[in-house]
Amino acid sequence: MDKRKIIVTSALPYANGALHLGHMVEYLQTDFWARYQRMMGHDCVYVCADDTHGTPIMIRARKEGLTPEQLIDRTYAEHTRDFANFEVYFDEYGSTNVDENRVLSETIYLRMKEKGFVSSRIVDQQYCEHDGMFLPDRFVKGTCPKCGAPDQYGDNCDKCGATYDAFELQEPRCAVCGKAPVRRGSEQLFIELEPFREFLREWLPTHTDAGIAKKLLEWFNEPLRGWNISRDAPYFGFKIPGYEDKYFYVWVDAPINYMATLERWAKKRGSSLDAWWQDPKAEIYHFIGKDIVRFHCLFWPSLLHNAGFQTPSNVFVHGFLQVNGEKMSKSKGTFISAETYLKHLPAQALRFYYACKLNGTTDDLDLNMKDFVERVNSDLVGKITNLASRGAQMITKSCGGILGTMDDDSRALLKACREQLPDVLAAYERRDFCRAMVLVREWADKANQLFDAKAPWKLVKEDVEATRSVLTGTLNLFRLMAICLKPVLPSYAEKVEALLGEAPYTFADAQKDVEGCPVGAYAHLATRIDPKAVQAMIDDSVVPETSPVSQKDIKKAVRQQATKPAEVVFPEPLAETIDFDAFAKVDLRVATVAHAEPVEGSDKLLRLLLDIAEEKPRQVFAGIRKSYSPEDLIGKQVVMVANLAPRKMRFGISEGMVVASTDPDGSFRVMQPLTPTAPGARLH
Ligand code: MSP
Ligand code: ZN
Repeated sequence: MDKRKIIVTSALPYANGALHLGHMVEYLQTDFWARYQRMMGHDCVYVCADDTHGTPIMIRARKEGLTPEQLIDRTYAEHTRDFANFEVYFDEYGSTNVDENRVLSETIYLRMKEKGFVSSRIVDQQYCEHDGMFLPDRFVKGTCPKCGAPDQYGDNCDKCGATYDAFELQEPRCAVCGKAPVRRGSEQLFIELEPFREFLREWLPTHTDAGIAKKLLEWFNEPLRGWNISRDAPYFGFKIPGYEDKYFYVWVDAPINYMATLERWAKKRGSSLDAWWQDPKAEIYHFIGKDIVRFHCLFWPSLLHNAGFQTPSNVFVHGFLQVNGEKMSKSKGTFISAETYLKHLPAQALRFYYACKLNGTTDDLDLNMKDFVERVNSDLVGKITNLASRGAQMITKSCGGILGTMDDDSRALLKACREQLPDVLAAYERRDFCRAMVLVREWADKANQLFDAKAPWKLVKEDVEATRSVLTGTLNLFRLMAICLKPVLPSYAEKVEALLGEAPYTFADAQKDVEGCPVGAYAHLATRIDPKAVQAMIDDSVVPETSPVSQKDIKKAVRQQATKPAEVVFPEPLAETIDFDAFAKVDLRVATVAHAEPVEGSDKLLRLLLDIAEEKPRQVFAGIRKSYSPEDLIGKQVVMVANLAPRKMRFGISEGMVVASTDPDGSFRVMQPLTPTAPGARLH
């Protein structure tokens, strides 16, 4: 077979946030596919980068007191760490904020301009005078003009789904500072799409999913609208040649960065961008989510086509991740970051599960936590890995750790499985990872049946050589499975290579038998998932929902507070939250009241001596005298804050604080443990 030259990309994650399990749907499937191509012996380069430009990144940096460059450096470190831990291998992982990208962006823009495809006109936008900037739709909030829902974005309403113009939004305000924006005009640059109508009409049906192409072509009944590619200062991005304070919209330089990152990779190897991207033999594939097809299937091919660069061979579009059948939700703990996942669960479990769910279509896929545990435990661990652990351990223990020749039944089964190998490879090629996993699981079922029928644990008592043959068969069958799983489970397969003392597997190795050779020490390959770990991950991901409060509600509350201070109840979300670490700093202890007495000269205070099993009881002055007399407390247990800084009072030093609640009538209730507790016990 001819060696193919393949360039693969994933969409560039924005540099203003952490990677989550939705993102991983994309990066994992691209990684499976790239690894599969390399195992087929093709030249396959997988490039990606952080998408660093745009208003959100600028604002986020400002909020955190960082420069945009500092913010994107920090995110780069986080993203590359998460990718490495998920075993996503990039040949090059770059950033859009590099010189190669600026040069290419300028070139591609100027080629559009030369042809007369860039036009300019004055466009009115929302402008915040306080922040001195034009506001993108996402940075204008107000009341939905259709349904009246408060706190909606400038382009669409979350409540009723309406889409509208930012000027239609009622009571608009700047999402950064809360002040009302004004309407202001400025010159904007547009790339015309109409000149590419015929090119796109022909290109689309053969270069992306049929359903996607059909949808996009619906727009072709009307003149294609131009694309605004400019943004006014202040903006974090590349300046447009010929303008002092205009920048390329982030979506101009982001796809161009596929080339820029490839160029970096090529130059490091003494090659060039042209030797790859412009090689007529080269195949170029973009993996993207269905939310960004417009950019990849209309604008991007037009830019490339006009500039004389090769256009993508195909744009592979995938669906969105749901968790337990619903949209990922922060309040339900199903918006799970890559980092949090890895704190609780192994990367290969998610790799395996996503492979089982991905079938190369644009359908959404569901991460159902129960199903996830079940698939990993019963299929990966119970069916597949068990063959290796039983086979390898028995051969070491009972057969001197040396493989023999396979028995006839194993050989026949291995042959039957190998006959299905082309199906596995074809499934990988069309990104139907699900089908590949199903075939491997079916092989595992058959191999387990054979293993059980041969009962080597009994056979070994009568005939060691026959046992060796059976186990040799088991391990050859397992080896074929490991090879076929390698694009999905690379480190798993590496351990199998080590077990059998072999060089890194390619698909050519699937035709080889391993017989008569020693077996190394069995290293643990896969762990069962404890559903408790899944629950802990979800608990760890819960972010309490802040019910949206409109600016109006806040103003109202503030006004009321000014007039009638005692009655104001602030809306919940205004209370500041603390993180777990802050809470963990509070040292709460159960204390036994060793002594209590009134304080002379105060009608509020009681002097308490609290035993928390330290050398000396602590002296605490508590303002609870109106609700308790000393006898009520002596010998009882209370809860105290033990690490409050000592405070000098008129009557002496107070070395802590007693925890109490206030009843509606103003009386105090000291908090007590339900059952007697060792003094000094910590609360958590
Ligand atoms: N920065 C742009 C892409 C520029 S490409 C020239 C962007 N970034 S993103 O971080 O929002 O998304 C990166 C990729 O992850 C996109 O392909 C997007 O579709 C995908 N996903 C983000 N959330 C996802 C899910 N919940 N589910 C599946 N894919 C998701 O868009
Ligand atoms: Zn503002």
